[in-house]
Amino acid sequence: MAKDKQIFYCSECGFEAGKWMGQCPSCKAWNSFTEHKVTGKALRNGWAGERPKAVRISEVTSAEESRIKTDIGELDRVLGGGIVPGSLVLIGGAPGIGKSTLLLEMCRNLTGKNVKTLYISGEESLQQIRMRGERIGISGSELLLLSDNSFENAEEVIRSAEAQVVIVDSIQTMETENLPAAPGTVSQVREITARLMVLANQLKTSIFVVGHVTKEGTVAGPRTLEHMVDSVIYFEGDNTNGFRLLRAEKNRFGSTDEIGVFNMTDHGLEEVVNPSELFLSGRPRGASGSVVVSMEEGTRAVLVELQALCCDSSFNMPRRTAVGVDYNRVNLLIAVLEKRGGISLSGADCYVNIAGGLRVSDPSADLGIICAIASSFRDRAVPEGFVIIGEIGLAGEIRGIRSALRRVKEAVKMGYTDILLPASNRSRELDELTGVRLHYVSSIQEALALI
Ligand code: TYD
Ligand code: MG
Repeated sequence: MAKDKQIFYCSECGFEAGKWMGQCPSCKAWNSFTEHKVTGKALRNGWAGERPKAVRISEVTSAEESRIKTDIGELDRVLGGGIVPGSLVLIGGAPGIGKSTLLLEMCRNLTGKNVKTLYISGEESLQQIRMRGERIGISGSELLLLSDNSFENAEEVIRSAEAQVVIVDSIQTMETENLPAAPGTVSQVREITARLMVLANQLKTSIFVVGHVTKEGTVAGPRTLEHMVDSVIYFEGDNTNGFRLLRAEKNRFGSTDEIGVFNMTDHGLEEVVNPSELFLSGRPRGASGSVVVSMEEGTRAVLVELQALCCDSSFNMPRRTAVGVDYNRVNLLIAVLEKRGGISLSGADCYVNIAGGLRVSDPSADLGIICAIASSFRDRAVPEGFVIIGEIGLAGEIRGIRSALRRVKEAVKMGYTDILLPASNRSRELDELTGVRLHYVSSIQEALALI
């Protein structure tokens, strides 16, 4: 038998080291290393079965056709078009956000299509799962349930059940006998994930693993597993409203730009087919500092409200706060606005916020940010019906953006009549659109004069 080995893990980020360290070199947390004894047996079970041989790429069959659709459109899109057989997907999110609900809804759809599905819960009893199932209308189905914390038993059930899709809810509650550590510790979570990976590969079963993340990141969480699995999907939102965003952080089988939008109701999660409507609901009419910008989320353009508030500062150094947009970008845009737009903000605090808890990383929101700040500073509202799109350069020039046509079409669909666009995006397709006035601008002076 191999000699016992000592491994130290950072309990914050899962960094692995051969010796104890005071500060984690990866996440810089202090005093976060804990020791784990790894026995020879647990070190790695290796790949059982035959050893793979090299094959020609042309002989490899594409997994594209064999994807299993979950029939939850938003989930399918985030997964890249459905579940890939033999993949391991991690669904992360804060406790209570709706991960179990989403996966159970997926199970309902899959069993409805005669896809054999197994749901393993280490958190809830069978009765609790059934009760939740009744709320989302699953009780009569063929879904297989297992409520157990022992991973060895779960592994056996997975091997014998011959299910096409398996859900393990959650990784933190599963425990393997091979390791002395408590469930939820980094070593347990990693060992179990590694063994699930082997199972998914050998049985060609798609496995979904649920992982809880806390805001502080103190629990040994999914962050440590991101590199081990095929796809990492985060389910986000705050508990104050029902909106939930599904976002792929990593996806070996699709794009990571897609988001899925859901609304939590009394009978489970509902897909939000028209996110623009959702993010613009409750927008104040005629208020200064509020503008509508367009963001690109994968293959969709989504309209969101961007708000700015400028007020006299009582500090020597005025405050700048950005929520949902990049802080440094806002500072840069404020500098451009001061220098090229002739507005002095050195005595004003500025707050910029995206409504609805979204994050915009797209530079096409630049012009919107500038217009919102200027509008709030002058306390003059941007006229109704405007959508503002454009990237800004340091000289105050407005640069072209991607997918102008798709964004304009979305704005027209949502009933907007006026669109501020970079002059370089002018095209024949755009000019042919009817029912919308396109205002092409090439500098921020022009844009500010217009609104
Ligand atoms: P859950 O899926 O248990 O969260 P997670 O698995 O991520 O911890 O979701 C629990 C929350 O969802 C809980 O606060 C109740 C709410 N909920 C509804 O509002 N409606 C429903 O139909 C269901 C099933 C849950
Ligand atoms: Mg749960």
